[in-house]
Amino acid sequence: MLVEKYADRIDKIFAKYQDKRSAMMDLLHLAQEEYGWLSEDSLREVAALCDVDPTQAHSIAGFYTMYSEKPKGTYWFQVCTDLPCALRGADDFYRQLCEYLGVGEHGGTTGDGLFTVEPVMCLAACDKAPMMQCNFHYHENLDLETVKALVDKLRAEAAQDQKAASE
Ligand code: FES
Repeated sequence: MLVEKYADRIDKIFAKYQDKRSAMMDLLHLAQEEYGWLSEDSLREVAALCDVDPTQAHSIAGFYTMYSEKPKGTYWFQVCTDLPCALRGADDFYRQLCEYLGVGEHGGTTGDGLFTVEPVMCLAACDKAPMMQCNFHYHENLDLETVKALVDKLRAEAAQDQKAASE
């Protein structure tokens, strides 16, 4: 439970706002950080902390692409395919990336659970398309070769982490 593990942090979040409800986005971030995604239970937990109905937590989680109501891979690729980026080749880049990772043309998660790819709307880096964020860090002016290099690097990091965890 968030409230048991993060009591101080939750108090500090509430202290920033005039009412509990206004803290919902911060608490959704906290829940996603803790659980990896926003399950039905975690949305209920956040709603209870904010004294609101769970449907309100659902509506916020569903509106913003920074929240995920589905489990996702260790590395979450959100590729902007909005119009200005599409004019700079983002659609083709997205298709190539999905094909390279073998997740199907609409995106999804790789079989090893390492990568989730999904399209998102404008991330405010339109002049640097094709661009994406990976776990909220921007990668810009991408092409298939640069993203392959990134995927290789992340695979190597994940393998190292797994090795360290098993030692
Ligand atoms: S349209 Fe893609 S970052 Fe703005």
